[in-house]
Amino acid sequence: MGVAALFFCFLMMAGFSLRVASSNVNSVKVRRTRHAVYDHLRYLDADVIFLQETHLTTLGHLREAEREWRSGPSYWSLAVEPYAGVAILFNTTDVTVHRLMEVAMGRCLVLEVTIHGRRLRLINIYGPQTVTERIQLLIEVKQYLFTSIPVVMAGDFNVTLTLGDRSSGRAVVRDSKVLKSIISQANLCDVFTLGGRKPKYTYTWTGAVGLTWLLAVVRDSKVLKSIISQAHLCDVFTLGGRKPKYTYTCADRSSRIDMAFVSPSETVCGMSERVVPYSDHLALFFCMGASNRSDIGRGLWRLNSSILDDVCVQNCVHSLFQDQLQRQDFYDNISDWWENVKEEIRSLLKRLSVKKGKSKYSQYLRLRKELESLYSAGGGGQTKD
Ligand SMILES: *[C@@H]1O[C@H](CO)[C@@H](O)[C@H](O)[C@H]1NC(C)=O
Ligand SMILES: *[C@@H]1O[C@H](CO)[C@@H](O)[C@H](O)[C@H]1NC(C)=O
Ligand SMILES: *[C@@H]1O[C@H](CO)[C@@H](O)[C@H](O)[C@H]1NC(C)=O
Ligand SMILES: *[C@@H]1O[C@H](CO)[C@@H](O)[C@H](O)[C@H]1NC(C)=O
Ligand SMILES: *[C@@H]1O[C@H](CO)[C@@H](O)[C@H](O)[C@H]1NC(C)=O
Repeated sequence: MGVAALFFCFLMMAGFSLRVASSNVNSVKVRRTRHAVYDHLRYLDADVIFLQETHLTTLGHLREAEREWRSGPSYWSLAVEPYAGVAILFNTTDVTVHRLMEVAMGRCLVLEVTIHGRRLRLINIYGPQTVTERIQLLIEVKQYLFTSIPVVMAGDFNVTLTLGDRSSGRAVVRDSKVLKSIISQANLCDVFTLGGRKPKYTYTWTGAVGLTWLLAVVRDSKVLKSIISQAHLCDVFTLGGRKPKYTYTCADRSSRIDMAFVSPSETVCGMSERVVPYSDHLALFFCMGASNRSDIGRGLWRLNSSILDDVCVQNCVHSLFQDQLQRQDFYDNISDWWENVKEEIRSLLKRLSVKKGKSKYSQYLRLRKELESLYSAGGGGQTKD
């Protein structure tokens, strides 16, 4: 990065700034490797680090890894399959975690934090092995993207966003006319695979060597692409026409499967893909500056109408309404009164929702702890009912 670019970053980030890194670490189960990884992470010089493929399958390992990370708090999700495991590490103590959600244990960890004075939703993803599981995970993650809180989603998605993100895809794009028809057929098929329905074409195309994986690429990358565009997120490493690097190479095929996405109001700079000695993936790094959106208020609030099924809630609303009926005289006309009643009901429902949400969340944390120790005791990999 040149001096001018650095200066530009500095200007953009006067006020808030956050350095973000994401790295597939290819196991930190053995203490020596873990120390080597921790040691090297310093060179990334980040405030928040998303790790994938930690391979930590027991609570013992998890606690040890957490203890040994001394630069700030860290949050670990147990690898319930042998090669999974994700974590979010902080290289700062200026962070408060408001909420922790494991969308999928060992695969997707969501933290809602206030860091350096700003509220953010951090989403770390490690894409599962099969296309169907990946699509399932993306669909589950989707609900966490629709929020007034700025989102930072990063990780090893094990999915490419465009065909150009695979070296073999680029070759195919260049010289195959057949591809276009395959893709359009896959598009049609997509309608039938949503909601986890098993697609038929994988059988019809098995004769065509090499085409099946292409279809697979198309199918889950389409889901990722549509979710990203619906949630209005930006692909950090292609912003401003930047040409991204492949982040992973395997058997002569290169691909960009490690990615980062942020809300469009965020300013980012200093994007780089970095070679790290401990992994076969490149690590991602970028800076986030001050956003140009106003952080006042919490954006739109939507009522989850299921709360209205609750008899207590119904009673509360009823008595509020009775109470308001007595107060019509305070208003010039009925429409002013009604506007006020709506506001009162809205704030009542908001209070009740928050209360309900809080008790649900503490119940969630209890269950998560239980599940973690069950998996840990089972040595990982085994399923429990
Ligand atoms: C933590 O941040 C400091 C600067 O604030 C930096 O020098 C150091 O390399 C970072 N450590 C890690 C592990 O990223
Ligand atoms: C990534 O996806 C490919 C198929 O696209 C699969 O063969 C591979 O096992 C996956 N890798 C991991 C680490 O899950
Ligand atoms: C923030 O900046 C971006 C790019 O400069 C612009 O497209 C967007 O409309 C701005 N958002 C607000 C809320 O001003
Ligand atoms: C609404 O609440 C119900 C029950 O608490 C929950 O199952 C559902 O997922 C919620 N819907 C949304 C959109 O949050
Ligand atoms: C009701 O009264 C307010 C002023 O108090 C006025 O602005 C509004 O237009 C009135 N609405 C109707 C329907 O008369």
